[in-house]
Amino acid sequence: MTSPIAVVVLAAGAGTRMKSTIPKVLHPLAGWPMLRHVLDNVGRLKLARIVGVISPGAKAVAAAFAPHPTAVQRRPLGTGDAAKAALGALEGHRGPVLVVFGDAPLVTTASMRRLVAACRKEKAAVGVLGFIARDPSPYGRLIVHRDRLEKIVESKDADEAEKAIDFCNSGVMCLDGELVAALLGAIRNDNAKREFYLTDAVAIACATGHKAIAVEGEEGEFQGINSRAELASAERALQHRLRAAALAGGVTMTDPETVWLAADTRLAADVTIGPCVRFGPGVSVASNVEIRAFCDIEGARIGRGAVVGPFARVRPGSDLAEGVHIGNFVELKATKMGKGAKANHLAYLGDSDIGAASNIGAGTIAVNYDGYGKWRTVVAAEAFVGSNSSLVAPVRIGKGANVTAGSVITEDVPAGAVAFGRARQVTKKGRAAPLRAKLKARAAAAKRGKKK
Ligand code: UD1
Ligand code: CA
Repeated sequence: MTSPIAVVVLAAGAGTRMKSTIPKVLHPLAGWPMLRHVLDNVGRLKLARIVGVISPGAKAVAAAFAPHPTAVQRRPLGTGDAAKAALGALEGHRGPVLVVFGDAPLVTTASMRRLVAACRKEKAAVGVLGFIARDPSPYGRLIVHRDRLEKIVESKDADEAEKAIDFCNSGVMCLDGELVAALLGAIRNDNAKREFYLTDAVAIACATGHKAIAVEGEEGEFQGINSRAELASAERALQHRLRAAALAGGVTMTDPETVWLAADTRLAADVTIGPCVRFGPGVSVASNVEIRAFCDIEGARIGRGAVVGPFARVRPGSDLAEGVHIGNFVELKATKMGKGAKANHLAYLGDSDIGAASNIGAGTIAVNYDGYGKWRTVVAAEAFVGSNSSLVAPVRIGKGANVTAGSVITEDVPAGAVAFGRARQVTKKGRAAPLRAKLKARAAAAKRGKKK
């Protein structure tokens, strides 16, 4: 039996290069705040606890860590100082302590597991995930000698020979829980940046007769996010992963590069997705659903065999039962569509319950908002709502009822009834030609009047 892991997530840095009022780790990636990706990835480890390190007053960040506790780093004096801030919350923990960065959301659980497993096997006091960097200049360099990691030299402190090394520190570090307090306590700030470097734990461990190791991973996993450009680049990388997983899971995408997924998008096998579709968070799609081009879907469940789009918008709180059809320029918000119900063209259905096998005609509007409150529209099963109708909520259309086209429905319609909510048509035989003559004469008179 291996002992469970304590994870420390550092998120107290200033994040100034984002030029944002939003804390860096809360910027969204694939529909989730960055930090949630980190917590999701570490959450799959065999965990003892997770501790977040935040800056003073970072309430929103603390909330994003909840239910996990947070420790406050008073001033951003470096990664070593930040890790030290978590020691109190690690009291009594004896197993491995994994330190990760809140701004590195692409590190996979598999890589973390490999690092922890290697540290256990080698009985290392410290282990780091390293990678061969295309451009090593921003990173700490790993100084390795005969399978042993001897020290990590930060870029600003590196000499020419060290700068030439391209084996770099990802920032993910595993420390022996028995030694972590002593190692972090010995870190000093006598370096170029006057910071307490977590990376110094390596040299300190070696100097006290312990072993340190480096485990190699893929550069793509270790891109940190410091700027908006890096945020965009991480988004691309994450989308690439999510699309690849969807394709491997049996989803057809006509043009995967144009499909934008959220981290939690659930797509069953045999779902087909056309080009230019965006999924916001909280969507699950059952098998044999076809999502046609240019749809935007968020916070919705889509049942088996449904057809959505092209050009449909399905907003949060919507639930489409089996075989529902939602056509072009139809918007749903917090709307339930029963089995086989259809709204095929140009409709807005907000806060509505549409019964099974009902048909909502083109141009129908559920008038859900009166300027103050939102109200529900209920259409029972097998009803027919004619085109260009307004259903003024709160209102109920009974089972099998028929609302004639162009109606403004303000009163409930009982089951089986036909409701007209429009002016009666007036037809005057033979009156088209005289009307045209009158209009023509009027226009000619107006023209003459202008010339004078
Ligand atoms: C760090 C590593 C470097 C590595 C690189 C990988 C150190 C000294 N250097 O450098 O070897 O190659 O990451 O990207 O560890 N933070 C705090 N409090 C602080 C300072 C930082 O919580 O006082 C947090 C930040 O929020 C961030 C993480 O620690 O999540 C990394 O800090 P950052 O300043 O970006 O480290 P780098 O200089 O990039
Ligand atoms: Ca960084």
